Amino acid sequence: MLVDRFNRKINYLRVSLTDRCNLRCIYCMPAEGEKKLMHKEILRYEELLRVIRIAVKLGIDKIRLTGGEPFVRKGFIDFIKMLTSIEGIKDISITTNGVLLSEYLDDLWQSGIKRLNISIDSLNKKTFKEITRFDYFDQVFAGIEKAKNMGFHPIKINTVVMKGINDREILDFGRLAIKEPYHIRFIEYMPIGLDLKDPNFISNSAVKSTLVNNLGSMSPILQGRYDGPAKRYQFHEGKGEIGFISAISNSFCSTCNRLRLTADGKILPCLLSNMEVDIREPLRRGCLDEELIKVFQHAVRIKPKSHSLNIDGHQMVHRKMCSIGG
Ligand code: GTP
Ligand code: 5AD
Ligand code: SF4
Repeated sequence: MLVDRFNRKINYLRVSLTDRCNLRCIYCMPAEGEKKLMHKEILRYEELLRVIRIAVKLGIDKIRLTGGEPFVRKGFIDFIKMLTSIEGIKDISITTNGVLLSEYLDDLWQSGIKRLNISIDSLNKKTFKEITRFDYFDQVFAGIEKAKNMGFHPIKINTVVMKGINDREILDFGRLAIKEPYHIRFIEYMPIGLDLKDPNFISNSAVKSTLVNNLGSMSPILQGRYDGPAKRYQFHEGKGEIGFISAISNSFCSTCNRLRLTADGKILPCLLSNMEVDIREPLRRGCLDEELIKVFQHAVRIKPKSHSLNIDGHQMVHRKMCSIGG
């Protein structure tokens, strides 16, 4: 069991498979892209599997695959199949930008993945292109609908709300959660790596008021053991749900149950701190499992009580989101 100094049980590992991405979201990557990791810097699938097996022995039972964009890494589906054969993992899920989703849905379903988190910050083609710098709205939305029709559930839709950029669409997203079984999650922008300025920040309490004032009241939904940080709600007769992920205005650090593994083999005890523990070096030195266990234990030991980030970006996180995976 991994338990930190604040008695939080750590059972969730977010694994970033690549720093590469086929979008350039304004809050995540500069237009010209980021300097990419070299092939040899990235953990090979066998290395990832060894690290994950150890994590599972230590009590990790929930794995999320992230990126950059996980689907751009070759061999991704075979990797998931190997992952599903590891005994002790109760939940495997993926966070994707949806660009390549349609073509992989059958493979995902067959490999046992039944739920998806998809990022889409606008329901409007033009705004989607302004935010992501690519004209893929139709492709992403078609992927979401195909996933729904195939029976993937829940389909969580992640939307980072930015004032003056996509906040005029709050009600469109709200209506989508009424009409369709999607879980629409409004995410507060976090100043990580790239500095979107203060005026773009909008708190989730403002988002919630806009929804309730225009679409009617929402009732809270009880959190389940495998839930992430979203506070969940439902509109009366809504087919889907609304979630609020409010890392800035209402931090959820006290219930944090996670560690992150980056594509270049660092364990991050917290998304919003600059602490990293290197697991690639001992791994490539051919160390025994005991040493890798110690690396995990150390990461858990230094996990901070909470983040001290605020929207002014006083404590900026050095890594870019694309090299952490959210
Ligand atoms: P579920 O388990 O499906 O609820 O997933 P999740 O919400 O944990 O994962 P997802 O990858 O969809 O992340 C949604 C948003 O939550 C992203 O913006 C993440 O950056 C943010 N997020 C996830 N985990 C953390 C965390 O530990 N701390 C903070 N501050 N934000 C997080
Ligand atoms: N603040 C909040 N959420 C972010 N994401 C990416 N960058 C940020 C940021 N700076 C979200 C993406 C994706 C998830 C993994 O993280 O939109 O849904
Ligand atoms: Fe790519 Fe996600 Fe970053 Fe957008 S937020 S550029 S989809 S890694």
